[in-house]
Amino acid sequence: MATTTLGIVVNGATGRIASTQHLEQALLVIRNAGGLQVGDQRVIPRLLLVGRDKERVSNIAQKLDIPDWTTDLDGALSDSAYSVVFDGAVTHQRETVIEKAIAAKKHIYVEKPVAPSVKRGAELLRAAESRNLKHGAVEDKIYLPGLQKLSDLMKNGFFGRVIGFRLDFGWWVFDGEQIPCQRPSWNYQKAAGGGLLLDMYPHWRYILEEIIGRIRRVVSASSTATPERVDETGKKYDVDVDDTSSTIVELENGAFGTIISSWATRVRRDDVFTLQIDGTNGSALGGFHRCWAQPMATTPHARWNPNFDMEQDFRKDWKEVPPSKPYRNGYLVGWENFIRHLVADAPFKSTMRAGIRDVQLAEACYESFVERRWIDLVDLP
Ligand SMILES: NC(=O)c1ccc[n+]([C@@H]2O[C@H](COP(=O)([O-])OP(=O)(O)OC[C@H]3O[C@@H](n4cnc5c(N)ncnc54)[C@H](O)[C@@H]3O)[C@@H](O)[C@H]2O)c1
Repeated sequence: MATTTLGIVVNGATGRIASTQHLEQALLVIRNAGGLQVGDQRVIPRLLLVGRDKERVSNIAQKLDIPDWTTDLDGALSDSAYSVVFDGAVTHQRETVIEKAIAAKKHIYVEKPVAPSVKRGAELLRAAESRNLKHGAVEDKIYLPGLQKLSDLMKNGFFGRVIGFRLDFGWWVFDGEQIPCQRPSWNYQKAAGGGLLLDMYPHWRYILEEIIGRIRRVVSASSTATPERVDETGKKYDVDVDDTSSTIVELENGAFGTIISSWATRVRRDDVFTLQIDGTNGSALGGFHRCWAQPMATTPHARWNPNFDMEQDFRKDWKEVPPSKPYRNGYLVGWENFIRHLVADAPFKSTMRAGIRDVQLAEACYESFVERRWIDLVDLP
């Protein structure tokens, strides 16, 4: 069988998401399986890790048994053995990395958010397309079992007409004062590309539009629950971004839904993320892994009485949706799809264009809050 080597520069290789999900759970899985089958050939990734810190990047390279690493991004970009650049480093540097990669005629695959704004994303997309370069954005959450189960219920017509949805997300992120913070401090700094809307809403866009339907418009409000935090070095800093958001969404089918997201809430839900979809024939709620459904036939008569606790157990009428297929790591599926698109021109939905629409939802929510009005999510030109 023919084998082809695909050179991939992995920028931000020491970061949490690049080192774990993209390298350990995806690219190394493909490499260690002897490559990805694409048509009649096997495509084997050859990786070049790039990080800022020599010691950290060499440690990761050694740990993952990857011989090639560097701290010189420009040098990596000028190496013709690598035709693809993946960026999973800190958000605010992404546009520069993409710009340089395009100038070096590399295909690009990048983490979310793909750009700081729709305008900037569109400029980068135009630049990539004018050089006939392939492009992709990471949209991994849709492959999680709970969301696949919701998606399958939707495809099978379980809901009837969708009436509405409720997306609830969040947990308590410690401020670092007494208990270490669970998120990098750049998440809380505007100049570093932080903020909950920019960080999380790109995911909500593709989840909602792929499972339920197109978004017509949004109205949104944000706030900062914890204005002062302590960083990784123990230094106090001021938070200048949102960490809490509430959004009303109107879909193109006329249904309304809500998104409540917060890094300053305590979980009393079935999961840190839940999406409930209500339809005329039934409702279902998916977490990241599990999913529960309630068809019309088992919908209870809900009762309430101001004088008594009716002790009605509303959970008992929901049945867990069993797994219906093997569920695979979303980052691995994303890489496989991108490589097939790259090598064999296979159809690919998670392009930069999709990634820009992901940014568009976050941007529309910011704009709505600042201008205190509904914002339409118009089609990208
Ligand atoms: N798809 C997802 O679900 C998902 C999850 C987490 C993160 N991400 C995205 O991945 C990217 C990295 O996130 P992470 O959680 O791995 O972050 P991280 O802080 O663990 O890693 C970021 C990388 O950038 C480097 N870095 C950190 N601060 C920097 C600075 N000020 N200047 C230059 N480099 C810096 C770090 O050394 C590291 O290599 C972000 O864009 C984030 O939005 C995506």
